[in-house]
Parts: sequence; C-alpha cells; structure tokens
Amino acid sequence: MRTLRAAGEPVRAASRSGEVRFDWTDPDTWPAVLAGVSAVYLVAPDDPAPIPDFVKQAVQAGVGRFVALSARGLDHISEGAFQGMATAERAVRDSGVQWTIIRPNNFSQNFSEDLWHATLRSGRLALPTGAVPEPFIDAQDIADVAAVLLTSDGHHEQVYDISGPQAFTFGEAVATIAKAAGREIDYVELTPAEYQAELRAAGVPEAFVSELDALFTVLRAGHNAKPADGVRQVLGRDPVDFAGYVSKAVDAWT
Ligand SMILES: NC(=O)c1ccc[n+]([C@@H]2O[C@H](COP(=O)([O-])OP(=O)(O)OC[C@H]3O[C@@H](n4cnc5c(N)ncnc54)[C@H](OP(=O)(O)O)[C@@H]3O)[C@@H](O)[C@H]2O)c1
Repeated sequence: MRTLRAAGEPVRAASRSGEVRFDWTDPDTWPAVLAGVSAVYLVAPDDPAPIPDFVKQAVQAGVGRFVALSARGLDHISEGAFQGMATAERAVRDSGVQWTIIRPNNFSQNFSEDLWHATLRSGRLALPTGAVPEPFIDAQDIADVAAVLLTSDGHHEQVYDISGPQAFTFGEAVATIAKAAGREIDYVELTPAEYQAELRAAGVPEAFVSELDALFTVLRAGHNAKPADGVRQVLGRDPVDFAGYVSKAVDAWT
C-alpha cells in the first residue's frame, strides 16, 4: 500500500483491521471494498471456501485484474495443505480477466514479526529443515513486485517465482541475526516428529501442525532452495539481501 501511495496510485487497504473493513468470512463487507476498484491484490485466507465467490463478485463489480499472492513450491505441497492459496490461484486463472500470480519463498519477516519471532527472542529456534538452504525474501520486495504487477501491463497469465538473492540455512540465518543483535540465539535441528511434538505441547492447533509439516517437507526436499529471478524480471533490480533485512529489523531481537 505504501509503495502504491508513494507512486501516486489510489489504493484501498482492506482487511479486518485495515482502513476499509473487509472480512473474508463476512460477505456483507465485500461490496464497499470492491466499489470502483480496477485491480485486486488477493492475499488468500486459510479457508478456501469464500474465495471463488469473492472473485466472481469482484469481476461483476468491474475488477479487470488480479494479482494473487501464493507460495513457491505450491505444486509440491501435499494434497489438502494450503488450500487457500491453491484455490486463489485457480480462481484468478478462471476469472476471465487479467491475472498474475506471485510465488515467494519464506518471508524474511517471519523472523522479526511473525512465525519465528517470539521463539527467537527467547533465544532458541528449533525446526526440521534438514539444513536445506532457503533464499528468504524481504516482504518489501514482494510489495514492490505486487505494486508493479497491479499497475502495469504485460504480466497477464504470468507466474513469478520470487526470492532473495542468496540461500542460507536456518542455522546460518539465526547466526546472522544473533550477531547483529549482539546476543546468543541457538538454532536447533529437530526431526519432523520432534517438531510436531513441540508444536502440540505448545498448544498449536492440529490443522496448523499439519500445514507446518507440509511446509518443511517441501523445504527439506529442496524444491525452493535455489534463488529465483522474479524480482529482477519484474523490477529490473536485485532483491534485498538477508543482511540488509537483518540490519533494518535488528530492534526486533534486542
Ligand atoms: N509468511 C511466509 O513466509 C509466506 C510465504 C509464502 C506465502 N505466504 C502467504 O502469504 C499470505 C500472507 O502471509 P503472512 O505471513 O503475511 O500472513 P499474516 O501475517 O497472517 O497476514 C495475513 C493478513 O490477512 C489479514 N486477514 C486475516 N484474516 C482475515 C480475514 N478473515 N479477512 C480479511 N483479512 C484477513 C490480516 O489482517 P487483519 O488482521 O487486519 O484482518 C493480515 O493482514 C498468506 O496467504 C500466506 O500463506 C506466506
């Protein structure tokens, strides 16, 4: 949103707590969000059920372009996992209007804002990655790519794999973070069974335990381990490197 506004584009940020209230589970909130909109950036909910209806309504309301945020390696994810993103991909492909799909690697911001933030702050990150490297992508690069795809022609029916410029193991990523933060943070390699046991002991819902298992199964298989060149294809520049992200985000771990 900030990227589009900085470029002078009118934009409506819609979510449950956004500028305009939008809730996937409450179709009454959809018409006001769609009124007068020409392009939609679709961030899929976990539950796929509302997505096809939303896409149909959007087209009826005059939307002529979708950019859907998906995930790299989605084709390798075991059946049943990440149905939201899979359904969103199908819905925009079948929409009858212009569509583009972005498939990023794991976001760097998972370390500072989301999935792994609290555990890193506690001084220990334990995952079943098999020491397979991951080219983490900075969320700002995803936003910059999305902004271009929403506002320029020539990307219809394209699927862009996007990643950071270099792949690191989670152990290397944690070492980089610990050094920048000036504190000890351990990376511990777990077996998939040990990881699932830790998640269950922490009260993580079973559906999310399964999704994380599917995520790390794909990661360990190495399908997403090499950097992809989607950022350069769309933006004509290199993506932000992991050290650049860590220096921006360092306050999150101190
Ligand atoms: N994190 C990763 O490494 C990664 C990698 C590849 C793909 N992805 C995909 O990218 C997407 C975003 O991931 P994320 O990690 O940024 O997720 P996130 O931090 O959980 O953000 C989800 C967003 O969806 C909104 N939202 C949640 N429930 C909603 C609802 N019922 N109605 C409307 N909006 C709702 C939230 O805003 P409000 O709370 O204001 O509603 C929030 O802005 C997901 O589809 C994820 O699967 C993530």
